[in-house]
Amino acid sequence: MTVITNASRMPEGMALEARNLRFELSQQLANDWLDNDPFKTAFFNALSMTFPAGERFFIESVRHYKDEIKDPKLQKEMSGFFAQEGVHSREHRKYNRVLCELRGYSQEKMEARTEKLVQKGKKKMSRKAQLAATCGVEHLTAILASKILNGWMLSDTPRQIRDLWEWHSAEELEHKSVAFDVYTQVGGNYKARKLTLRIFTVHFMLDLLANTFYMLRKDKKLWKLSTLQSGFNFLFAKRGVFRELRSDYLSYFDPDFHPWDDDNRDLLARWQSPKAA
Ligand SMILES: [Fe+2]
Ligand SMILES: [Fe+2]
Repeated sequence: MTVITNASRMPEGMALEARNLRFELSQQLANDWLDNDPFKTAFFNALSMTFPAGERFFIESVRHYKDEIKDPKLQKEMSGFFAQEGVHSREHRKYNRVLCELRGYSQEKMEARTEKLVQKGKKKMSRKAQLAATCGVEHLTAILASKILNGWMLSDTPRQIRDLWEWHSAEELEHKSVAFDVYTQVGGNYKARKLTLRIFTVHFMLDLLANTFYMLRKDKKLWKLSTLQSGFNFLFAKRGVFRELRSDYLSYFDPDFHPWDDDNRDLLARWQSPKAA
């Protein structure tokens, strides 16, 4: 029997641990917890709405290939990936429920946008293309995670909610190469991963902004000059989302790209996990 030993390119010595953390966020979620800023808060809350359906999709698209991977190291990483994404999904579902109860939003309506996108992807795309899309979205989450752990945007937010976002970010960094290494191992090609990132970035941003605007409209804050100004700065200004993430985002389009080209283990070493409940 041939045993493939080099499919995983995660750095040696790393292990994926699913920390079974539980967060109690009702106090923070009742308010505009991010810098007291309605737009930024709604944007991050909208991001949370994408996770339950999104992470289920990531797990499924990697799990399709479970039997094809023979490298024991990568097999173990796949199990760690499923476990980590499973806990993320659970905690973000809870986050979304508490948020919607407190602020009168429709959780069903907002989560349905990502669910619809996922169902469309599953219907129209081959399993390999679904995996390519997962690699792309995992790249998006990893580059965002790296910024968050570097102190971007959330450094002044209340402790509990920051703990949740930093925990999720740390685990996204830890498992950032798993889907990619599976994709490479099963013969996924460059063209499909490039194309699916482009397509999913557009759809993902549209869903995110639709939910952001929905929450702001519900709060009667959408058409205020201060909200629109803050939204513009948050997205387009010097330390805003697009400029901050642009070069890391584009690195994915290098044909030789690998997630660990950006070795940010130092961020993981500095991060301190909150205690499990
Ligand atoms: Fe996750
Ligand atoms: Fe992930």
